[in-house]
Amino acid sequence: MNTASRMDLNEVAFIGRTYSEYMDIFGLDEHALLNGPVLDCPAGASSFTAEARRKGLDVTACDILYDLPADKLVAKGRQDLAIIEQKLEETAHLFNWGYYGDRQRHMGTRAGAFELFMADYPAGKTSGRYVCAALPGLPFKDKHFALVLSSHFLFLYGVRFFSPGFHAGSLKEMARVCSGEVRVYPLLGLNAKPYPHMQQVLDMVRRDGIRAEIRASRFEFFKGADKLLILNPAK
Ligand SMILES: C[S@@+](CC[C@H](N)C(=O)[O-])C[C@H]1O[C@@H](n2cnc3c(N)ncnc32)[C@H](O)[C@@H]1O
Repeated sequence: MNTASRMDLNEVAFIGRTYSEYMDIFGLDEHALLNGPVLDCPAGASSFTAEARRKGLDVTACDILYDLPADKLVAKGRQDLAIIEQKLEETAHLFNWGYYGDRQRHMGTRAGAFELFMADYPAGKTSGRYVCAALPGLPFKDKHFALVLSSHFLFLYGVRFFSPGFHAGSLKEMARVCSGEVRVYPLLGLNAKPYPHMQQVLDMVRRDGIRAEIRASRFEFFKGADKLLILNPAK
């Protein structure tokens, strides 16, 4: 039944989106990915890195679960895909389905991203393309990346799992490793409501000289998720 008022998850899901979803979510064109190394943080089971690499782009993915061996990640990813499929059925009224067409095609896109990610992960882990990292810390040098992308983690799981301090610390850390822009989406929670501590988090981030601006997004799958946060690190 489509009556639940929130997507009720017990933990952060290990799922992922595709390269083309990222381009729409973050309002990017390919030129924006050519200015230097790009970080996907946290990347989960996204195929963005795998697909970007095939295009010759320099992308690194990081996630707290990348210390797991491939077979454990496969098991976790499959389990989380099944959970998300069920939760989407319960909360279908919270979403705009036009972008994907319907629930089945949406899950097909999610499964496709997972397959591409898993095919790239073992070799990519060895070559350093997939890096284990636990926010609010990142194992990268200051200003190493020209662009940092953060999708479907901060704010989304915020109220239930993470404090405003965790959010501010994570954003500052992403800004530390970035010389260009940090882009974060979405700015609402699993209850489909705007993240309630946004002002507090932005105040903490701005105190470090980081410029923070909220812009319109052309992507709005979760109803109301029509904005992204852009950070410009202090020079
Ligand atoms: C829903 S996935 C986002 C995947 C991808 N960004 C996308 O939009 O397709 C959220 C990811 O956050 C990771 N995660 C949870 N806590 C974390 C932490 N403290 N540091 C880094 N990653 C974390 C989870 O393992 C999960 O893979």
